[in-house]
Amino acid sequence: MLKVGLIGCGFMGTMHANCYKALDGVELVAVADIRPEKAEQLADGAEIYADGKDLIANANVDIIDICLPTYLHAEYAMLAMEKVKYVFVEKPVTLTVAESEALKAKQKETGSYVQVGQVIRFWDEYVALRDIKNSGKYGKVVNATFSRISPSPDWGWNNWLHNISLSGGAALDLHIHDLDYVLSLFGEPKAINTVKNIIGEENSYINSLMQYDDLVVAVEGTWDLPADHPFVASFRVVFEKAVVAMAGGKFMLYTENGAEEIVIEKKELSVAGGTSGNISDLGGYYNELLYFTDCAKKGEEIKQATLLDAAESLKFLLERELA
Ligand SMILES: NC(=O)c1ccc[n+]([C@@H]2O[C@H](COP(=O)([O-])OP(=O)(O)OC[C@H]3O[C@@H](n4cnc5c(N)ncnc54)[C@H](O)[C@@H]3O)[C@@H](O)[C@H]2O)c1
Repeated sequence: MLKVGLIGCGFMGTMHANCYKALDGVELVAVADIRPEKAEQLADGAEIYADGKDLIANANVDIIDICLPTYLHAEYAMLAMEKVKYVFVEKPVTLTVAESEALKAKQKETGSYVQVGQVIRFWDEYVALRDIKNSGKYGKVVNATFSRISPSPDWGWNNWLHNISLSGGAALDLHIHDLDYVLSLFGEPKAINTVKNIIGEENSYINSLMQYDDLVVAVEGTWDLPADHPFVASFRVVFEKAVVAMAGGKFMLYTENGAEEIVIEKKELSVAGGTSGNISDLGGYYNELLYFTDCAKKGEEIKQATLLDAAESLKFLLERELA
């Protein structure tokens, strides 16, 4: 049984705990949160620690998962790498390039394997899109648009998400999902033109147009919509011989033969609890933690959504998009 220690039992910690409870051969044995009631909600028999550092120092765990507010990622990930071989850190990996460089150095020193929660890389429709592109069956991509739009996130502990010096605002917290995916699919563009609307110190709207040799990609993100507006993640990818689109709750393929829905078989999961927000099931979170825990069980290197991948995406965002 793989023993998991989870640090941070808020919104994402709850999602991760539900995933661990649904995974075979994995046991959540220790949880930490400075709000005792949050840790108690997730514990379900696991040991409870009053702070992440106590868990790292004292818990008997094989892997550590860090679901703390972003400004704490670097400090806790450094400590976790000294304790265990497998560390999961939520995205964005850190707030600054200097911090992610320090994590890379620590990883080299300790020989740890670190996965970052760039969950879109594991989300079914985005995995299918990557497969379609790599198959080449509809030719090359000509242009693509990715969008992620959200009501204002109101759940964060002490409202940390709305303090740009703690969260990085919508650009680092939300838009980085699509940016990281686009970079993983197409590589770095030769030119980028970013427009952003910064309200109250937050990058509340960002839209980047990326120019490659033979395609153009637009990536839009915002989190300032009214509470009743749904969270919507969508894309439209135009190939030479087809269009693949995820919008309005449908995943579609359009070719000269007509329109057809691309059906993704959903796995049945029996999970106690559930989580709040606009996430209807465990989706990509389950997939990414299945991959992470499988690597740990087999003693294999993490090769997807690695620390190096996440550090590159962060660097691109900070030094090319927001420069
Ligand atoms: N992958 C995704 O789709 C996704 C979605 C939401 C959030 N996130 C990321 O997950 C991370 C956590 O975000 P969240 O929304 O869960 O925030 P949150 O505020 O809901 O949860 C953070 C928790 O950490 C606890 N905490 C603070 N300091 C602590 C300490 N020293 N030791 C132990 N616990 C401590 C808080 O009490 C809180 O319960 C962030 O990096 C965020 O960007 C990722």
